Amino acid sequence: MERLIIKGGRPLSGTVRVGGMKNAALPMMAATILAPGVHILNNIPDLRDITTMSHLLRIFGAKVYRHGHALTLDTSTCDFPEAPYELVSTMRASFFVLGPLLARFGRAKVALPGGCAIGPRPVDLHLKGLRALGAEMDMEGGYVVAEARKLRGASVNFEVPSVGATENVLMAAVLAEGTTVVENAAKEPEISALAEFLRLMGAKISGDGTDRIEVEGVTSLSPAEMEVPPDRIETATFLIAAAATGGEVTVEGCFPEHITSVIGKLREVGAELQVRDGTIRIEGPPRPGPTDVVATPYPGYPTDLQPLHTALMTIAEGTSLISDRVFPERFTHVPELRRMGADISVEDRVAVVRGVRALDGAPVMAPDIRAGAALVVAGLAAKGETVISRVYHIDRGYERIEEKLRSLGAEVRRETT
Ligand code: UD1
Repeated sequence: MERLIIKGGRPLSGTVRVGGMKNAALPMMAATILAPGVHILNNIPDLRDITTMSHLLRIFGAKVYRHGHALTLDTSTCDFPEAPYELVSTMRASFFVLGPLLARFGRAKVALPGGCAIGPRPVDLHLKGLRALGAEMDMEGGYVVAEARKLRGASVNFEVPSVGATENVLMAAVLAEGTTVVENAAKEPEISALAEFLRLMGAKISGDGTDRIEVEGVTSLSPAEMEVPPDRIETATFLIAAAATGGEVTVEGCFPEHITSVIGKLREVGAELQVRDGTIRIEGPPRPGPTDVVATPYPGYPTDLQPLHTALMTIAEGTSLISDRVFPERFTHVPELRRMGADISVEDRVAVVRGVRALDGAPVMAPDIRAGAALVVAGLAAKGETVISRVYHIDRGYERIEEKLRSLGAEVRRETT
């Protein structure tokens, strides 16, 4: 077991470069199933989730090689369309293979993702979308068994905009016969990155980035090469950590236009931000001001950053109200932050965060990726030593987090017990 040990209280300072967008890279890897042959994905972050998706693709018979931050994926030999529970249960994004497997093989067997630390996360919308395209779906022993002799374009209207369901339907619709229209589609930049990759493979997609996406099915796709855009959640993580420590940090190689809502909130807490093409410089306030957040789908405040904003608000000069319309029960970070002296109560799915002058370092446990990142932010700001266990959660979404933070002057080390 590995732990992160943080000696807090030092303002972060310096320049850091962000890696590729994890949540775009994962569906792009799944999409390579659609076109037999050798694909190349550049700027792939070195993360546990990427390793998990590589394992899954190898189970299907693909050959996946990593060279630094590039992945070569040869899907010409794929022949086994079954995703086992052991892998799907460790990463919900494994479910993204359902659409591509159906489109290529006409059948697929994929384990249901099961429980998740951040509240109920059903897959009904994924199934509804694929059924609309003509797939027959049965549940057998915890697996979705899907079959479709021929997928046909259809109109799909989601009750709520789901990132994963939009991606699964897009990946099936590109090889369906006729036109598919997805209404109330998710608008996240990760969807546009996937759509771009599919277009490079020869797919005909328009409207991504809006809530109405149109796909004109084609009979076959070709392997493609693409650079994964920068990760907006990692970008914002460094900005929030800088704000929490009163530091001065420049984040390079990012897309500021993907985190407009976050930049707005950081200005509200009193940070100064200068945004240039591909670069954001932040100067944190001596102590943050209180600021409410309601996490909503893109372009609203991202649910994945809500735990980090909560961590920042624990030391604000006043009270902030934080809620999450995407995952209304996403508060696993709250009990851990309380262990560090935070004053937070959750009432009717709203976290009431009464800012304290300082947090105290404490032993805590990362409950999931972003709640773990929230503990890192809290630990950097706290007085004394914070020991974060279950670091593997953080490693799912952040590459070499301790090295990047050390390059910004933080006292962080990893220890194996
Ligand atoms: C993706 C991201 C995750 C992020 C989330 C919301 C990946 C790998 N993960 O997750 O980091 O927090 O988007 O931005 O990209 N829902 C249903 N039925 C479904 C699917 C979803 O009701 O079949 C609901 C969910 O419970 C949630 C909302 O839709 O309330 C949005 O979830 P969704 O966008 O699907 O999240 P993921 O794609 O799982």
